[in-house]
Amino acid sequence: MRHRADPQAAPDREAALQQYRRRAWLYDLELALFEPLRRRAVARLALRSGDTVLDLGCGTGLSLPLLRAGVGANGLVVGIEQSPEMIARARERVQAAGWRNVRLHQAPVESAPPLPAADAVLLHFTHDVLQQPEAVARIAAALRPGARVVASGLKWAPAARWPLNGFVAIGAWHSLTAWSGLDAPWTLLAGRLGSCEIEPALGGAAYLARWRVAAGGA
Ligand SMILES: C[S@@+](CC[C@H](N)C(=O)[O-])C[C@H]1O[C@@H](n2cnc3c(N)ncnc32)[C@H](O)[C@@H]1O
Repeated sequence: MRHRADPQAAPDREAALQQYRRRAWLYDLELALFEPLRRRAVARLALRSGDTVLDLGCGTGLSLPLLRAGVGANGLVVGIEQSPEMIARARERVQAAGWRNVRLHQAPVESAPPLPAADAVLLHFTHDVLQQPEAVARIAAALRPGARVVASGLKWAPAARWPLNGFVAIGAWHSLTAWSGLDAPWTLLAGRLGSCEIEPALGGAAYLARWRVAAGGA
């Protein structure tokens, strides 16, 4: 049997479903420390009224209020999430706010129905999605010319800041199943979309990667 923290480990759907079945009830509290990074990530999407934005691996919907505010009543927010327990919380959020233009689908990104054409895509703390070639291919296929894509989350800190990697390892143990790609989580997506701008965060233990698709498409 492969050790769970094997640096080559690919995403494991069953393990991920179990992980979030256990965490869903406490998740919003656990993420509190990272909320400034979420706000920064959504700001980098430069949302405009009427945009369609995809929130992939949307979890309990913590990004939904910011995304809905960005696209307004005339835009569309689509959340895709594979964990039934996590998306149930997102659904409660949507219902409580009374948003009619926020749609949620329970499915893995890599095998969900085709994604709608998007002006913006958010992948916040969704390392397992970023390490799935099929998911990344679908994301690239959904992008409209000029679309903005932001991926953010944990990464291994540079060698000079090695003590931070204890913190990254604990976070990773709770949050992801693919230990591959933690040195540069954006690599597969960059293979499809081209080079991106990287902003380091949390002393190098987190990152924010962003792309703008050329006017001619991805
Ligand atoms: C750390 S949480 C992040 C949730 C949310 N993006 C946020 O910012 O709070 C990772 C989420 O990705 C979901 N996930 C992991 N792999 C997925 C996949 N292949 N397709 C859809 N959702 C996935 C998990 O179920 C979990 O809810």
